[in-house]
Amino acid sequence: MRITAVPLLSHPRAALLCVCVLACGREEPAARVDVVPAPARFSVEVRAHPNVGRLDSARADVRGGVAGTRCNTCHQAWVPGPMATHTDQLDQFHKDMEFQHGPLGCNACHDDGNREQLRLAGGERIPMADAMRLCAQCHGPQHRDYSRGSHGGMSGYWDLSRGPRVRNHCLNCHDPHVPAWRQVLPAPPPRDRFLTPPAEGAHHD
Ligand code: HEC
Ligand code: HEC
Ligand code: HEC
Ligand code: HEC
Repeated sequence: MRITAVPLLSHPRAALLCVCVLACGREEPAARVDVVPAPARFSVEVRAHPNVGRLDSARADVRGGVAGTRCNTCHQAWVPGPMATHTDQLDQFHKDMEFQHGPLGCNACHDDGNREQLRLAGGERIPMADAMRLCAQCHGPQHRDYSRGSHGGMSGYWDLSRGPRVRNHCLNCHDPHVPAWRQVLPAPPPRDRFLTPPAEGAHHD
């Protein structure tokens, strides 16, 4: 099979491109192609979730980011004692926090001794940035789907010899305190200016 493009000048001022497909009868023997994947030179990166371990304020910091206070600025000095298990028990701080995550208490995830860390079910303390390990303990099926690429999305390259692949963190999409995916309002349809006649007297500026 051969595809040939033949440009024809049919008129002095108009060039016509005529594409002729010429099939020649001889069949090429099917060649066996062994696809050897190029060695991976890049890795799969999980997008970092910003500002973990910090309580954000509404103010900007000197670098134009969001100013925040580290958890332990307060929690090391002021708030000893056992951790509250639900927002109802908070009467001094974080009171406006919304919390709807099944029957969990704060201590299902936060570490009592160090509020800048999380605690796995077995007691191991992990940095907040590794929260995915915690989510995976209770949401095995979703984490399995995520590991295989069918939950959570990705961008970048399939072929890791050409560039890195970037995965989202669970926390990029789910608030750990109100994790349910919120309803999305459908956007209004685009206005079709050819179907909707302009109002009487309307004109373009
Ligand atoms: C400005 C001070 C301050 C900062 C910053 C702060 N907290 Fe708190 N936090 C408190 C106080 C005070 C309480 C106790 C509230 C109460 O009992 O009414 C509390 C309560 C909590 C509780 C509930 C359980 C308990 O009784 O201890 C959790 C969990 C918690 N904080 C986590 C965090 C985390 C995580 C951060 C950082 C991302 C953080 N806090 C940052 C002051 C702070
Ligand atoms: C399912 C696990 C989980 C539970 C349960 C949980 N948290 Fe958190 N919390 C996290 C993770 C993960 C982060 C860090 C990510 C972030 O800041 O968005 C966090 C962050 C925070 C912060 C930092 C600021 C913010 O709002 O993001 C505060 C304060 C906090 N938690 C308080 C609480 C309190 C109080 C409770 C109990 C009422 C609680 N958390 C229950 C996982 C949990
Ligand atoms: C200690 C166990 C535990 C941990 C840790 C945990 N979850 Fe959950 N999660 C639950 C339970 C229980 C429910 C409620 C299930 C229900 O109501 O049917 C739930 C519900 C959810 C839902 C569905 C909410 C809805 O109403 O549809 C999402 C999404 C979710 N969790 C995400 C997360 C993420 C992300 C993390 C990590 C930050 C996490 N979970 C950590 C136990 C956990
Ligand atoms: C790119 C965004 C995104 C990321 C990243 C993500 N999820 Fe989800 N997740 C969703 C959406 C959207 C839904 C809601 C699906 C629906 O309502 O049909 C969902 C639903 C869920 C549910 C509710 C049950 C279900 O399957 O509908 C759980 C639990 C959950 N995700 C856990 C996780 C965990 C754990 C991680 C990290 C390993 C994660 N998700 C990462 C977008 C995401």
